[in-house]
Amino acid sequence: MAWKTLDDMDLNGKRVLVRVDINVPMENGVVTDMTRISRIADTVYDIQDAGGKVILMAHYGRPKGKVVEEMSLIHIAPFVAEELGVPVTFADSDYRDAVKEMVDDEVLLLENLRFNPGEEANDPEFAKRLATLCDVYVNDAFSAAHRAHASTEAISKLRPSCAGRLMEEELSALEAALGKPKRPVVAVVGGAKVSTKLDLLGNLVGKVDHLVIGGGMANTFLAAQGINVGKSLCEHDLADTAREILAKAEAAGCEIILPRDIVVAREFKAGAASETVAPDACPADAMILDAGPATVAYIEGVLANAKTLIWNGPLGAFEIEPFDAATNAAALAAAKLTKAKKLISVAGGGDTVAALNQAGAAADFTYISTAGGAFLEWMEGKELPGVAALNT
Ligand code: 3PG
Repeated sequence: MAWKTLDDMDLNGKRVLVRVDINVPMENGVVTDMTRISRIADTVYDIQDAGGKVILMAHYGRPKGKVVEEMSLIHIAPFVAEELGVPVTFADSDYRDAVKEMVDDEVLLLENLRFNPGEEANDPEFAKRLATLCDVYVNDAFSAAHRAHASTEAISKLRPSCAGRLMEEELSALEAALGKPKRPVVAVVGGAKVSTKLDLLGNLVGKVDHLVIGGGMANTFLAAQGINVGKSLCEHDLADTAREILAKAEAAGCEIILPRDIVVAREFKAGAASETVAPDACPADAMILDAGPATVAYIEGVLANAKTLIWNGPLGAFEIEPFDAATNAAALAAAKLTKAKKLISVAGGGDTVAALNQAGAAADFTYISTAGGAFLEWMEGKELPGVAALNT
């Protein structure tokens, strides 16, 4: 795939409409994680430096085509201004007038696109309305690229289009991790349920050399091999599917790494009494909440010989101590190898970033994606409409 970047566009004196993802967590009116906002900074600055005027458009939450006051981007505008250090004006409806009145270093932020049903419907008319606001369209929202919406798909056909800096970074990192990776490649996939990651596992076994399966998902694989997992979270109905994935991996020469020892407890709470036992020794009244130290040691050995790591999902119930131990230890091992320039490590999707931050490992990873669902769909090998639309 090839796509244009800001460097390929003439931006001088142009109105540049940038699709960003500032769908950030908020509590009591305060943004609790600014990552997605801070990561659009380079795109905004580079457009301004090239003489363009920046108009930002984004969604917030899932208002389903209706105006939902709590989901107005007016609440996010001050955080964008503060984080980027630029004046941000908010436009709730009269977009054209607001664009006409823009002064040079000002950034205009449009109201939540999803207040209009045309956005999610990928409506050409809504896309046209957005396109009339600009000379150039930039997509910088990799994390919304799995949606074929008016602002990510239809609009790209109406104006000269390119990828923003964050989109470029995401695509290069993902290409390095799964597109044309340096081998051996290790994937770590964790999380509660196999059912949410079937396509992902199916795609990965054909692409990576080692696949570590952790979290509740690992229990389903253990159970599928006839192991009693006690009261653990487990999708027993997916036993056949798990066995199919194991067979596919074997045929593809991909090593599946399941827990070699397990940490079990009778209560799911912080500090609950726990013990480490063999994978087939979970007591009938206990549940598996983490992988044990022998598993971590094995993963560390695999990582030490690997060149590329792609990580999605925790290895255990990382939200509560002491069941964060395997995730923390494996993440720190990966971070250390990355820092020593021995490993390219890319992580993303849902809980993953929280887990790596909690482990204190995120800063040393090569790349942490801002994407949740889009990262998963990309790991599934699917074409993302927002990325495909930029293809030249
Ligand atoms: C996200 O938070 O992952 C993106 O902003 C996409 O949001 P969506 O799942 O509501 O499309």
